[in-house]
Amino acid sequence: MHSSTALTSVLEIRNLHAHIATPRGVVRAVDDVSLTIGRGQALGVVGESGSGKSVMAKAIMGMLPGRSGCSGEIIFQGRDLLSLPRKERAQIWGRHIAMVFQDPGRSLNPVVRVERQLTEGMRRHLGLGRTEARSRAGELLTEVGVPDPERRLRCYPHELSGGMRQRVMIAIALACQPDLLIADEPTTALDVTVQRQILDLLRRVQTERGTALMLISHDLAVVAGRTDRTAVMYAGRLAEVGTTASVFRAPRHQYTHALLGAVPTLDHERHTPLRLIHGTLPDPVAPPTGCRFEPRCTAAQAQCGEADPVMATVEHDHQVACCVPVPAPGTPLTGGDLVGR
Ligand SMILES: Nc1ncnc2c1ncn2[C@@H]1O[C@H](COP(=O)(O)OP(=O)(O)OP(=O)(O)O)[C@@H](O)[C@H]1O
Ligand code: SF4
Ligand SMILES: [Mg+2]
Repeated sequence: MHSSTALTSVLEIRNLHAHIATPRGVVRAVDDVSLTIGRGQALGVVGESGSGKSVMAKAIMGMLPGRSGCSGEIIFQGRDLLSLPRKERAQIWGRHIAMVFQDPGRSLNPVVRVERQLTEGMRRHLGLGRTEARSRAGELLTEVGVPDPERRLRCYPHELSGGMRQRVMIAIALACQPDLLIADEPTTALDVTVQRQILDLLRRVQTERGTALMLISHDLAVVAGRTDRTAVMYAGRLAEVGTTASVFRAPRHQYTHALLGAVPTLDHERHTPLRLIHGTLPDPVAPPTGCRFEPRCTAAQAQCGEADPVMATVEHDHQVACCVPVPAPGTPLTGGDLVGR
């Protein structure tokens, strides 16, 4: 047995490194990230574009491109996916860990009816017969809020709206009752009202079914009221992780603090991209030594550029990798009372 957390966690990522070879050099897209998701828990993963969120998700799903490498541990229900034989891993992906992507138009097969796409996994992984799988498919569509499921089952993806396609994708992901659902920017391609409906649906599924959820977004407002814990990534590193309440009310990493300060009001309607901090992410092929946020940090001191900041616990279930953490509260938080709306 790995540790006591392995018993209560569905996923435990330890010292994960993922690098991708590019013509310009090696991109260390994920650099020594450790994260845990408890059973049935929702973890939000936020960070600017290019911070390594999708590469981490792909590493968990075994979907990294061929010219990439991975090290560390990805322990799913006590077994390290990185050291399991390929055949055993393949039984976990799609069955016990499912993923919902940004663009349902591209992840659904355009020439196959909804019914077959929904029933395929149940027939293969759960061994259901045709009639039973079909009736489960109808129930799943109802559960994810697709009206008139009998008619929708006969449709091809292009006959559905973007929001309906994303609901179908979620139904497919849930079909085999996974223990972990990874949603990578699941609503970016949708209009604002539909975005909110889909995000609320994911949260409902997570709480009602007890499916653990990793909700990835470059938008803080997406995770604010819908997750139990939040992880903040910066340039491939984990900057801060803690309960969503704690991270939003009392961000301790200078980067998170700047992000929250950069978003004037946070609610589910307003989706503000996190690009308001002066400067840009460092060159992923040649990041600076020490803290990668240093060139943009207004609180930086000499030691910040010398060595990687060490992850330290600042309070129960709240860790920060910053040499000069933001002082603990009493300090009022910009953005107001975000959590639990
Ligand atoms: N297939 C790839 N080939 C080369 N580099 C890649 C590839 N995929 C990702 N990268 C690089 O890895 C780093 C992390 O990218 P990633 O897609 O994980 O960012 P992200 O946090 O998901 O950003 P976004 O919010 O835009 O989705 C970036 O520097 C990116 O350019
Ligand atoms: S480690 Fe230093 S440079 Fe990095 S965020 Fe903290 S204070 Fe700023
Ligand atoms: Mg991404």
